[in-house]
Amino acid sequence: MESSDIRDELTDILVTEKEIQDKLRELAARIDEDYAGKDVLLVGVLKGAVMVMADLARSLCGHVQMDWMAVSSYGAGTKSSGVVQIRKDLDSDLTNRHVLIVEDIIDSGLTLSWLLENFESRGAASIEVCALLRKPDAAKVQIDCKYVGFDIPNEFVVGYGLDFAERYRNLRDVAVLAPHVYS
Ligand code: IMP
Ligand code: MG
Repeated sequence: MESSDIRDELTDILVTEKEIQDKLRELAARIDEDYAGKDVLLVGVLKGAVMVMADLARSLCGHVQMDWMAVSSYGAGTKSSGVVQIRKDLDSDLTNRHVLIVEDIIDSGLTLSWLLENFESRGAASIEVCALLRKPDAAKVQIDCKYVGFDIPNEFVVGYGLDFAERYRNLRDVAVLAPHVYS
């Protein structure tokens, strides 16, 4: 889906498909360098991180493994509830693994801070975070995120995996949802 297909449902296009792809290649080059000679486990957080995972993983030159975790901290609304629930756990054992968490967006940071604590207790050798987007003005807890794509304003965005009520994940760009869609 192109932004032009749903023009009246969006206000601003914040990050275009091209800008996302360029940024992911840049991040992938850093990750390849930082993890040279190491076995990396990419952990994607469902469902929002599906697109980032697919494109980031294919931009990497080295071998990786992938696993998925599904947690929920959001309902159908646009505000974080702060309550994190595991919907699907990892298949992998994290003991002595180099884990790179792949996320769509860091908003309040509550989900990631919970995940980081949870993964630390499973004995990983290292844990880092790669997030395509971050909203610095929405942070409720500080997250040490080594790989960040774009800092964006504190507005509700959709596209490239990010949804509103399960829609807009297939939009190619990241855009601000027009308020008339959710109010
Ligand atoms: P948190 O507030 O950092 O815990 O964000 C938790 C999750 O909420 C993110 O991983 C996203 O999946 C989702 N989320 C946060 N901000 C947005 C947004 O602007 N649009 C769509 N989903 C969002
Ligand atoms: Mg997410």
